[in-house]
Amino acid sequence: MTAAHVPLIERYRDRLPFADGDPLISLQEGSTPLLQAPVLSEMVGASVRLKLEGANPTGSFKDRGMTCAVSAAVRDGAKAVICASTGNTAASAAAYAARAGITCAVIVPEGNIAQGKMAQTLIHGARVISLAGNFDQALTLVRELTSAHPIVLVNSVNEFRIEGQKTAAFELHEDLDGDLDLLCIPVGNAGNITSYWRGFRELGAAPRLFGFQAKGAAPLVEGHVFEAPETVASAIRIGNPVRWEDAMAAATESRGAIRSVSDEEILAAYRLLGSREGMFCEPASAASVAGLLKYGADGASHVACVLTGRGLKDPETAIAHNDGRVIQCPVEIGAIEEAVLGDP
Ligand code: F0G
Repeated sequence: MTAAHVPLIERYRDRLPFADGDPLISLQEGSTPLLQAPVLSEMVGASVRLKLEGANPTGSFKDRGMTCAVSAAVRDGAKAVICASTGNTAASAAAYAARAGITCAVIVPEGNIAQGKMAQTLIHGARVISLAGNFDQALTLVRELTSAHPIVLVNSVNEFRIEGQKTAAFELHEDLDGDLDLLCIPVGNAGNITSYWRGFRELGAAPRLFGFQAKGAAPLVEGHVFEAPETVASAIRIGNPVRWEDAMAAATESRGAIRSVSDEEILAAYRLLGSREGMFCEPASAASVAGLLKYGADGASHVACVLTGRGLKDPETAIAHNDGRVIQCPVEIGAIEEAVLGDP
């Protein structure tokens, strides 16, 4: 079997907290592609690659942490898992719980989860609770709930999530033979940047980590909680990240930074990736590229941007924000000719 056909826990078992014979709940996650980005490379004057985390089974990086969190939950005899989520954690938890044959509940902020993620969570049979509040309130409630009931919390407060997600750093290091100077990554609840830094440190590698928050949801940049975070990138609409200190440590220790990008900058990067690089990611993922374009490669030669989730998860935003147009046409050859060949 090639690496791409091995479950993540098997591929990196020597560096993960699992023993031979432990139950393994896998959908063959990880081993995602690293794509060259010629247009971005030209624009910033460095070699830029895209880590395509949307190629994971449920379409986001969450599967790396979820295979570990759910496998550990099953090992410990759990019958149910729960999370608060802006959508991707919910979809991933629901899929792995379905695979494990255990119950899953998710708490999502009402009106602020992309349709594809809702569709996934429902088809996997999770109990979906739509909270009349935001992600931070959902997480507070779910932490309170799990302290009183035997349900495993699979948000990134769960150490197994961080352990699983650190494997993306291992893959980058292997695929680039250690030649990585700078990593650009979107930041929401801050579990992922924490995980990458843990992974790089375990390897003795130290690329600079640049994390990007949306301007309307930038607590780590502004240094205070955002009570009412707002951004088009619903996945990172978070005002009080649970991994706050870890994310700041990752930025400081790696000589990087956490900075913000506006919704306009996120959407411009989102359209550019789609129309020039042929890569459709979700808006939150485009924050990594928006940040690179805004702040530059800062002297780095080898840059990687993490595209955390697939574009199809959020069709509403793609349809609302693109440079294309749909031409209405009657069933008639002359009209078709004009539509196809006429001036755009
Ligand atoms: N990109 C996407 C597509 C996400 O779904 C998330 C987080 C992030 C980036 C930020 O990662 O939280 O580790 O800093 N989504 C969580 C969720 C909050 O519930 O799906 P982070």
